[in-house]
Amino acid sequence: MKATVFLGGGRITSALVAGLRLAKYKPPLVVYDRHPEKLRRLKREFNVSTEHDLARAVSQACLLIVAVRPQDVANLLDDTANCDWAAGPRLVVSLAAGIPLQKLRSKGSSAARWGRAMPSPVCRIARGLTAVTFEENVAMRQRKQVRDFFGHLGSVLEIPEAHFDAFTATFSPSHGYHALATLARSAQAAGLDRKAALTAAAHAIAGGIFYWQESGQTLDELLREAATPGGTAAATMAAMNRAGYERVVAKGLWTGIKQARINARR
Ligand SMILES: NC(=O)c1ccc[n+]([C@@H]2O[C@H](COP(=O)([O-])OP(=O)(O)OC[C@H]3O[C@@H](n4cnc5c(N)ncnc54)[C@H](OP(=O)(O)O)[C@@H]3O)[C@@H](O)[C@H]2O)c1
Repeated sequence: MKATVFLGGGRITSALVAGLRLAKYKPPLVVYDRHPEKLRRLKREFNVSTEHDLARAVSQACLLIVAVRPQDVANLLDDTANCDWAAGPRLVVSLAAGIPLQKLRSKGSSAARWGRAMPSPVCRIARGLTAVTFEENVAMRQRKQVRDFFGHLGSVLEIPEAHFDAFTATFSPSHGYHALATLARSAQAAGLDRKAALTAAAHAIAGGIFYWQESGQTLDELLREAATPGGTAAATMAAMNRAGYERVVAKGLWTGIKQARINARR
């Protein structure tokens, strides 16, 4: 039986196989990496098959997932030139941030059809979000195969490739951790102890967003409900906006988008 094969057994592969196991995903999973100790750990923790030989890994794949850092993708794909693609995958999905389909297509087999996916590390608990995009020549059933695969790990969003870098810079859970850490630090500076500061900040961010998702109310309605004119929340938000809150967030996003493009050119 053909497998889903991961080329690269690092952080995101570990999160994906953990989430797949949690979701009781049964079809075979194979991981290839140049570090035997990483393969041993993945095998031990998640009962995946492991492969030290690239050609053997590629030949087992019905879905091949490229999960190495962007600057390593070109070398890895060069190494696959001697693999038996005819017996192997027709469908290849790259997770590499910033590397466009056109560049991926210029490497690897001409028989392969390419897609890109951008999964969140929250896939580890099967509550993630994954953006996917495909070359035009990828058949509907192949797109469905990829959407269904990532669907085991949370929500899936198919978006145009032109939006991929902006999505990548926006969807990262690091925003949540960063906002939590920043708000909690300010709360500590205002006098709360660390535990109370983190508890209050986590409720503000996660509790508020959970309520937005569950209540069916619009963001405008919730903002009106939470920020009574003349009250504490309204004054806090207005001061943050005057200090350049939106400008700072936009600057961060653009820097992230540029970094994705720089990494892809390396
Ligand atoms: N981490 C995330 O949350 C996340 C989320 C979405 C997408 N992504 C994308 O996923 C990709 C992987 O990210 P990651 O964080 O999982 O990276 P990582 O932890 O560095 O894992 C990549 C693994 O692949 C190995 N590798 C690289 N080139 C290889 C080769 N030619 N042959 C065999 N093994 C090779 C690396 O070994 P060495 O350490 O020796 O190089 C490393 O063990 C990136 O392109 C990233 O943009 C990551």
